[in-house]
Amino acid sequence: MGIKGSALVTGASRGLGAHIARRLAADGWPVAVNYHAEAAGAKRVAAGIVAAGGRAVALHGDVTDEFDVRRLVATTAERLGPVQVVVANATGPQPVSPAELVSWQDHLDQLEFFVKSPTLLLQATLAGMRELGGGRFIHIGSDSLRRAFPGTSAYNAAKGAQLALARTWAREFGRHGITVNVVSPGWIPVERHGEVDAPEYVADVALRRMGTPEEVADVVAFVASDASRFITGEQLTVNGGHHG
Ligand SMILES: NC(=O)c1ccc[n+]([C@@H]2O[C@H](COP(=O)([O-])OP(=O)(O)OC[C@H]3O[C@@H](n4cnc5c(N)ncnc54)[C@H](OP(=O)(O)O)[C@@H]3O)[C@@H](O)[C@H]2O)c1
Repeated sequence: MGIKGSALVTGASRGLGAHIARRLAADGWPVAVNYHAEAAGAKRVAAGIVAAGGRAVALHGDVTDEFDVRRLVATTAERLGPVQVVVANATGPQPVSPAELVSWQDHLDQLEFFVKSPTLLLQATLAGMRELGGGRFIHIGSDSLRRAFPGTSAYNAAKGAQLALARTWAREFGRHGITVNVVSPGWIPVERHGEVDAPEYVADVALRRMGTPEEVADVVAFVASDASRFITGEQLTVNGGHHG
């Protein structure tokens, strides 16, 4: 595929998105570092990329809002070139709640991020990807769907729907050279988790340690690259062998 356009990483002001943005930039992608509330974080990420010799801009936009998504994609194209890679990473709060207390609104809150937002992003970038002769749509899923942790039914239901979108879109858009895959991390401590000491979790991980955001970003970089050109509709799990 080669780098002909730009990469847009949603929710890249911190957490996994920030690491993914830096990693894609290190591979030569001009990167749009999207944020919603944390302008300072996104500007820091973009400035770090530029200081390291890459190209990046911090761009505001609520990825659950249709107008904002269209503006975000158009501004990315103006500043960095047409969007060739989308990383649908942004997430809102993920409350843990027993199923008997989960409201329909709780479900909608998760679907906003993992079904509505990816759909808006796809629709806003599809024409540009076709013109480029192909592209990559990369969802950040979650291993929580397979592990089915109690209390995460709304989150897991939305992550399951996201996986279904990816598999269906892979078949709809493959003929345009567009691949659609899901990178699903296990528990990867980021800023919001604070200090993590989880011996019981680690004991269940084949590699006997927590994963790092860099290890997720490496897999996203592979999926964005030409090396993954014959992989589509797949889920790549990054959990150190947490399969027990
Ligand atoms: N970390 C893990 O253990 C883990 C495990 C499995 C899956 N995941 C998945 O990985 C992805 C990233 O998770 P994370 O742990 O890195 O989350 P995080 O640290 O909470 O970061 C979330 C990001 O999303 C942004 N965001 C929130 N609302 C937004 C909106 N409406 N529009 C645009 N951006 C918005 C936030 O930016 P602002 O503050 O600027 O709004 C922030 O940059 C998610 O899809 C999550 O489900 C994470």
